[in-house]
Amino acid sequence: MLPTVAYIHRGLFHSCAGLSVRMTSSGIGQKGILANRVAVVTGSTDGIGFAIARRLARDGALVVVSSRKQQNVDRAVAALQGEGLSVVGTVCHVGKAEDRERLVATVVEHCGGLDFLVCSAGVNPLVGSTLGASEQVWDKILEVNVKAPALMLSQLVPHMEKRGRGAVVLVSSISAYVPRVELGPYNISKTALLSLTRTLSLELAPKGIRVNCLVPGVIKTDFSKVLHKNEVFWNNLKEDHKVQRIGQPEDCAGLVSFLCSPDASYITGENIAVAGFSSRL
Ligand SMILES: NC(=O)c1ccc[n+]([C@@H]2O[C@H](COP(=O)([O-])OP(=O)(O)OC[C@H]3O[C@@H](n4cnc5c(N)ncnc54)[C@H](OP(=O)(O)O)[C@@H]3O)[C@@H](O)[C@H]2O)c1
Repeated sequence: MLPTVAYIHRGLFHSCAGLSVRMTSSGIGQKGILANRVAVVTGSTDGIGFAIARRLARDGALVVVSSRKQQNVDRAVAALQGEGLSVVGTVCHVGKAEDRERLVATVVEHCGGLDFLVCSAGVNPLVGSTLGASEQVWDKILEVNVKAPALMLSQLVPHMEKRGRGAVVLVSSISAYVPRVELGPYNISKTALLSLTRTLSLELAPKGIRVNCLVPGVIKTDFSKVLHKNEVFWNNLKEDHKVQRIGQPEDCAGLVSFLCSPDASYITGENIAVAGFSSRL
């Protein structure tokens, strides 16, 4: 059961039982290239998703932050509000239908619709061989990484359509192109996202909704901490990517803001790597 959380909406103070919602009083109406736009970012209380949420909010959007854990949502919302940014937060495990429904309801009720969906939530419960992966591991990876973005979008598209435009950014991985042998099912899920991007971009173009994909290289977050611990690997990575440093979450955020902005209005169906030099072609 979620705790009762108070929130502020355009200067009014409400008590909101069963829903973790906080909204700054400034809400819509900020300046910036994304002003008067609403963005939903999944998996956005930490790492790449958090950096994207912060960047979209800094560029003027009202951002809906979400992840599985209430305390993480509260922490992220407090941090971003502390910077004077417009954010709403709600719990959403993207693999759970009831959580996706609550997210959609929050967006409709408190933001009046949306313009952008960024699907950053992703999991990798296995480091091991592909053929050694259990059915549960396969189900979890495909459910969270591949099915959830499509199912979430199917519920949100009608609300984007009402605005006559929209932009979606999926988050794949460089391992979609250059598979790491110990990440088998994860590699496969991330390759599927490249195709999901291409397929949805065709399907949604007539509705004025663009679909693109961020393809990060190794980025220093909690998710990649198993790699940070391997000093030799980590140092070799800097050499492999040529730019002599490891990517940071903020390196991914500017591209996503651009892909959402009117400057990218003639770009759809693209998978774009943020990985220094990458040997994928
Ligand atoms: N870091 C890299 O090197 C790298 C490289 C390529 C691609 N990626 C991709 O980038 C995305 C983000 O990774 P990251 O490195 O930023 O990870 P991270 O730092 O571990 O952050 C993950 C975020 O997602 C949330 N989350 C996890 N599972 C979720 C679920 N089922 N539903 C909703 N939220 C969930 C987490 O919060 P809670 O724990 O509260 O849910 C957290 O906010 C993933 O799709 C990953 O595959 C990462």
